[in-house]
Amino acid sequence: MKLDDVKTIGIMGGGVMGGGIAQIMAIAGYEVVVRDLTHELVKVTQEAIFEGRWGMKRAVERGKLSFDECAAAIDRISFTLAPREMRDVDFIIEAVPEKLDLKQQVFAELDTLIKPEAIFTTNTSGFPVVDVARDVSEGRKPLFAGMHYSNPVPTMKMCEVIYTPQTSQDTIDAVKGVAEKAGRVVSMVKDEPGSYGFVMNRVFAAAKREADKIVEAGLATREDVDKAMMTGRNWPAAFYGQRGGIGKQW
Ligand SMILES: NC(=O)c1ccc[n+]([C@@H]2O[C@H](COP(=O)([O-])OP(=O)(O)OC[C@H]3O[C@@H](n4cnc5c(N)ncnc54)[C@H](O)[C@@H]3O)[C@@H](O)[C@H]2O)c1
Repeated sequence: MKLDDVKTIGIMGGGVMGGGIAQIMAIAGYEVVVRDLTHELVKVTQEAIFEGRWGMKRAVERGKLSFDECAAAIDRISFTLAPREMRDVDFIIEAVPEKLDLKQQVFAELDTLIKPEAIFTTNTSGFPVVDVARDVSEGRKPLFAGMHYSNPVPTMKMCEVIYTPQTSQDTIDAVKGVAEKAGRVVSMVKDEPGSYGFVMNRVFAAAKREADKIVEAGLATREDVDKAMMTGRNWPAAFYGQRGGIGKQW
């Protein structure tokens, strides 16, 4: 599948990332179908896309999107509970929770449902793409890549594109092209078996480990580390902050 052949995108999992990715892909002109597990979860994602802090209504209010563009993008997004509704999509972006066995199971099922030329991508935060792709057929492996977005997707422009030794050049070009068409800045990253994280999370985790060492050694308080990095290095957010900061997960 080449970039120009990609018309429809299936998003596995609404939620924080899937909803944001659906939004940018619909605005970019793709037909988007989002699959989640219950009507209630679908409703939460719909509200985030249409009414949320980073949603389309706010984008129109802020002059980032015209009313007509917003209406057309909304028309391009549909929601389903049934994986079989994904059977005709050209391109999958998986954004289910960060559990390797769940992602493997989701892709194994999609592999049997979706046409053999469709591209599969995962928004894993850090599992090696070869591990996520483990249970798909050999024929699909050249069509498999990582697509790691940053939260909140509508405002954070980065997308790391991760390729394995098996990912074909056509797939790399198409994945990069789809991300760029959706307004992303792309960093290319080689998959590394046995590691966790690509560029963004590995570099961030290294800095956070160092910050923790400084705090644990009693050299500076958490507040002073946050102040030093935000004021002295212009980091936009705190490691620790009042509610745990952006480094909480690390
Ligand atoms: N949240 C972030 O800041 C962030 C940033 C980059 C990457 N990621 C990665 O993106 C992925 C999703 O994270 P999130 O924060 O959006 O999680 P989330 O919990 O907000 O959303 C996941 C969604 O997937 C749905 N889901 C679960 N099983 C499913 C299935 N079998 N089929 C379809 N949908 C299913 C859930 O109901 C939920 O709505 C994870 O791999 C995460 O590591 C998250």
